Amino acid sequence: MIISGKELASSLKQQMAAEVATFEERYGRVPHLAVILVGEDPGSVSYVTGKAKASAEVGIKNTTIRRPATISEEELLGIIAELNADDAVDGILVQLPLPKHIDSDKVIAAIDCSKDVDGFHPMNVAALWQKQPCVLPCTPKGIIKMLKVAGVDIAGKNAVVIGRSNIVGLPVSKLLLDENATVTMTHSRTKNLGEVTSKADILVVAIGRPKFVTADMVGDGAVVIDVGVNRDPETGKLCGDVDFAAIEPKASVITPVPGGVGPMTICCLMENTIECFLKKQA
Ligand code: GUN
Repeated sequence: MIISGKELASSLKQQMAAEVATFEERYGRVPHLAVILVGEDPGSVSYVTGKAKASAEVGIKNTTIRRPATISEEELLGIIAELNADDAVDGILVQLPLPKHIDSDKVIAAIDCSKDVDGFHPMNVAALWQKQPCVLPCTPKGIIKMLKVAGVDIAGKNAVVIGRSNIVGLPVSKLLLDENATVTMTHSRTKNLGEVTSKADILVVAIGRPKFVTADMVGDGAVVIDVGVNRDPETGKLCGDVDFAAIEPKASVITPVPGGVGPMTICCLMENTIECFLKKQA
């Protein structure tokens, strides 16, 4: 089975749009997401455009603030301070990666954690690891949703995660653990990686290398979630971290690239923005 993140996201966005359509009357306004894009990295530009498009579909107000890569850290922190203080802004997202002269950790920590729709603020990260209510990071949240919709029973399963980033690898490992999987966290320095991954019932790949996972690394009937967004060096087309054509016949469930995890990430960002908005209305 191929899980279409695109179709699932589209149906979830329709449901959210119906809910948001009632907000003007109930709360006098709609949720407002502010996105900050620094520089012109093509990947980041495309993500930010996708976020603005999804906001429009759901009925969320979107402000995209674009600044050149030469912006100073101080100036960026100033923009965040203004957005923090603005009661009409519910969610703040700084598109990563930031230019090297800017300390990303400092920038993320400067965001009001009640407006941290990415779930990257240290307070939200701590809450996640202590199993307390928090804003969940979008990609991991989207992955768990996809597994559930596909009817994958996570409890007791052997889940292997490749990649240990703050954005995907670490939080998705924690969410899989919370679903009672037995989780193995692997990375570029793992020895005999193929041996470890071939024993996975659920394999989540977020390493950022085109077609890194080959068919011999995947066991028969595995559930394979591909988080990668890369350019195929041979064809120039978008491709994942998984050799889809070779692995799809072996896998019981697999996500495509494009049209898999990516649309679900954006969908969960919309959900998080609504969540932060609703918390303020209480
Ligand atoms: N860059 C890659 N993924 C993400 C994400 O989920 N959020 C932000 N802010 N930047 C990213």
